[in-house]
Amino acid sequence: MTQISPNAGSPAGLSFFEDMHPPAADFRADILAGLSKPQKALPPKYYYDEEGSRLFDAITEQPEYYVTGTELELLKSVGGDLRALAGKGALVLEPGAGSSVKIRTLLDALDAPSGYVGMDISGDHVRSACEALAADYPGLEVGALCHDFTQSLDIDALPLSDATRAGRRIVFFPGSTIGNFELIDALGLLKTLRGWLRAGDALLIGTDMRKAASTLEAAYDDAAGVTAAFNLNLVARINRELDGTLDPDALEYRAFWNPYRSRVEMYLVALHDMAFEVAGQRFMIRQNETIHMENSHKFTVDTFADLAAKAGLERRKSWVSDGEAFSMHWLEPAAKAC
Ligand code: TRP
Repeated sequence: MTQISPNAGSPAGLSFFEDMHPPAADFRADILAGLSKPQKALPPKYYYDEEGSRLFDAITEQPEYYVTGTELELLKSVGGDLRALAGKGALVLEPGAGSSVKIRTLLDALDAPSGYVGMDISGDHVRSACEALAADYPGLEVGALCHDFTQSLDIDALPLSDATRAGRRIVFFPGSTIGNFELIDALGLLKTLRGWLRAGDALLIGTDMRKAASTLEAAYDDAAGVTAAFNLNLVARINRELDGTLDPDALEYRAFWNPYRSRVEMYLVALHDMAFEVAGQRFMIRQNETIHMENSHKFTVDTFADLAAKAGLERRKSWVSDGEAFSMHWLEPAAKAC
């Protein structure tokens, strides 16, 4: 039977809310450093202010952006397999918890999961998402953690009941978020997540797949212009918060498939030469010069299994959506990590 730990001082319905005080990112320094590179680049982690988060949600609803819908369908269709693999009383951990739809689909598939811990760099965000979940799953021990998932984490130290802590751990990392990291950083992140697992625990991860350039380029540059607005919103944020003078109307958003690196690359392109300032520093951008915004790596089942193996994770099972658009993988710690 699931033990619910005492709830004194915790927010409504949650077993705990812990702020692990992730190191504050330095917006000003990071933006200035990115604009000073020979290939100008803006770090994607700054996309997600309030307007950015709203635009991101809107991206996931665009008809060309197949990723979210395809993954959800796949997750629904493999519920029986997941239930069998996870067994009874699993503890689900979700780094970068956001979409409450996917986690609900997973929890509904599992056999009496004992607990769920959502983690996000934004404390408010994860707290309210977990409160809503706790209200809907009364038997589940739900905790929220303000944490940067690129950092290590001692799961044993979480204030969960003994029964929940003893459950099989399933780290859930959907959305092909792993694809947004450079491969070397993706490997580092997989190693970090591997460090959260004991023998028999698992990482359930979603990865987007290689496909026709036209499909990929449309998905990352939708006709309604939402992905373009999402990228230009970061320019607006820089202008607002760092006294910037970069003219968003003189920048055009472009996404293209790079087959050699197996990734969609997203850029802002200058329509004419421009001098501009950010935080008192002067910059110059030439006509047709680009600002690199983000990458979205695409995998095959094998290229991803190879990457996971390098991180000491062994593939037990993969599921591929109809038309080979998207895949999910059940990975377990390899007996001997390499
Ligand atoms: N990880 C998802 C993807 O690569 C979502 C995503 C991250 C995204 N950044 C994005 C989607 C920028 C569109 C544009 O598809």
